[in-house]
Amino acid sequence: MALYSLPARSAPRRPAVATTTLLLLLLFALGCQRWLCVHGFYIAASAPHHYRVGESLPVYWNKIYPGRKLLGPSLSYARLPFVCPTDGNDMPNANLGQRLAGDQLVRSDIQLSMDRNITCQVLCRREVDGDAVEQAVHLVRQHYMVEWFADELPGTHPWSNIMDKQKRYGDGFPLGYYDPLEDKVFIYNHFIIQLLYEKPERDPNQRLIVGFEIYPKSVESVGRTCPHDASVPGMPQQALLPSTQAITYTYSVLWIEDKQMKWGERWRNYLNYENDKSIPVFSLVNAAIILLVLTIIIGVIVLRVLEVNFPLIANKDNSEQDELHGWKQLHGDVFRPPEQADLLAVLVGSGLQLLASVLGVLVLGVLGIVNPSYPGGLITWAIIIYMLGGAMSGYMSARLNKTLVGTDWKKHAVRTAILVPGSLYLLTVLLNFFGWVEHASNTLSFGGLVGLLALLLCIAGPITMAGAYIGDHCAALRHPVRVNAVRRAIPPAVWFMQLVPGVLFAGIPSFGAIFLEEHLIFHYLWSDRFYYFYGYTLVSFVLLIIISSFVSVSMTYFQLCNEDHRWWWRSFLFGGSVSIYIFGYAILYFLLRLQSEGIISTLLYLMHTLAASVLIGMLLGSVSFLCTYYFVRRIFKVVKVN
Ligand SMILES: *[C@@H]1O[C@H](CO)[C@@H](O)[C@H](O)[C@H]1NC(C)=O
Repeated sequence: MALYSLPARSAPRRPAVATTTLLLLLLFALGCQRWLCVHGFYIAASAPHHYRVGESLPVYWNKIYPGRKLLGPSLSYARLPFVCPTDGNDMPNANLGQRLAGDQLVRSDIQLSMDRNITCQVLCRREVDGDAVEQAVHLVRQHYMVEWFADELPGTHPWSNIMDKQKRYGDGFPLGYYDPLEDKVFIYNHFIIQLLYEKPERDPNQRLIVGFEIYPKSVESVGRTCPHDASVPGMPQQALLPSTQAITYTYSVLWIEDKQMKWGERWRNYLNYENDKSIPVFSLVNAAIILLVLTIIIGVIVLRVLEVNFPLIANKDNSEQDELHGWKQLHGDVFRPPEQADLLAVLVGSGLQLLASVLGVLVLGVLGIVNPSYPGGLITWAIIIYMLGGAMSGYMSARLNKTLVGTDWKKHAVRTAILVPGSLYLLTVLLNFFGWVEHASNTLSFGGLVGLLALLLCIAGPITMAGAYIGDHCAALRHPVRVNAVRRAIPPAVWFMQLVPGVLFAGIPSFGAIFLEEHLIFHYLWSDRFYYFYGYTLVSFVLLIIISSFVSVSMTYFQLCNEDHRWWWRSFLFGGSVSIYIFGYAILYFLLRLQSEGIISTLLYLMHTLAASVLIGMLLGSVSFLCTYYFVRRIFKVVKVN
């Protein structure tokens, strides 16, 4: 057999080397993940502001947003009909990311002067009508959270764990609370603002702000006066009733020197790197075990394909041998271009573009460049990298198209530039429309939408076209075996290798690997805590990509062994099918954990999760397709020798 003309000396080592490398990478990844969780760092957005004693500094009011994010619109705090009106101007320079996140900073009337305590100060007495009270009740019952800023820090409501008494920073502070015993809603109308500062050693007259804590209280309003002492328990509280006429808002300010905290570390409490012990290493070990099993499967496949490591099996000339090499019969069909090959090329290209965007943001997060001290930074970077990634998308799409279809690269490039970015744009418009209906602050104005469209057409489009131009001018990918003119009949497959069961089955290992993480991500997404574990997310994400690619390769191999040559689309679907489970999980989570609060929030939730699942599926499908393509070309090189 000519198969033995393979270089028998070097080949046997390769799978072993590959497996060892993978294992080492895995250990390294786990180590990195631990390290990143404990020693995460970030790069500050701006230089520290040194305050003199008595220097005034503004408090900015930003937005309120549902504690269970995505389940409702974000609204501008200053424009609510039941809080103090302010004539402060909006901060002018909001970036695109901030707009999309609904950030609208408005200067409030709260007076802060460095190191001057205020016992109690009336902010305003706001007259309210029935509608305003009703809206307030609705928002409080939806767990709405308030976000203020001072010195670029979001105001936070600290809480501590009973177990370790560690102070942790929550995300904003609640608008009010609902007491189920009395069936009454209370609004927080007295704010104890506690500012922590650092005295730099060099100049004791200067102050640096290292913490902005807000302890909201509900105190029954008696005219335009300050509550006697809001911290005494058992004081009457400000309920929201149909009879409520006015709400008095008051605040007090305490300046406290923090001898431990340094300005350069002031985000630590928000990031909770050291505090949060609940990060399950377990879930990554789980993913690692799945990866190990898959690595072994792939290793065995590679060994079988190369045969050199199994001289015993190879010498046995039995029927089992033929069964294992059924795929070799397919050499005349395996590279026959699939139906809709141009669409496949577009999807693979677009998937790579998404990959660039997600990986890019996560890496920038790990490097500390994307972090919460840049409001809107995450979304802005994601959009920039996505647009630049168009070059990759255009290139890959054009090259695949040239290989599989061969004609008309310009039309194809336009399609690549439009299909996925255009759908994302339409989705943004649709979500915006919902936002306008609900007067949300996380909407773009009409001008903003036009600007985004211009960005897509004038920058992202040409970048994609340029990539496609290069892709088309590269040689078409070469296949090791030629396609026969006659199509080979496909024998009937066992039921679990048919299209639908096969694709569903392929999603299970990947979902198993991320199941625990997904639980965690959902938990944090719907709770009121910062969650910025970029390193952890990056490692999990890379594991997910490797696992789904491995699954796709193995499933494709088994299918080829069954003499079914339709692998092009299937390898894409095998890799992407985990998104079906992710979407199913999101629905289940919605039904079990979150109560639906009206048709619009249900729709919003469904649209967000569906879009996210489709995008994840496309991303994983695209990488899996490319891995499988490489694998198939590799194994058919062996046949060529034969
Ligand atoms: C402000 O109040 C805090 C807490 O009671 C106290 O530690 C601090 O010394 C006070 N600052 C001034 C300037 O009075």
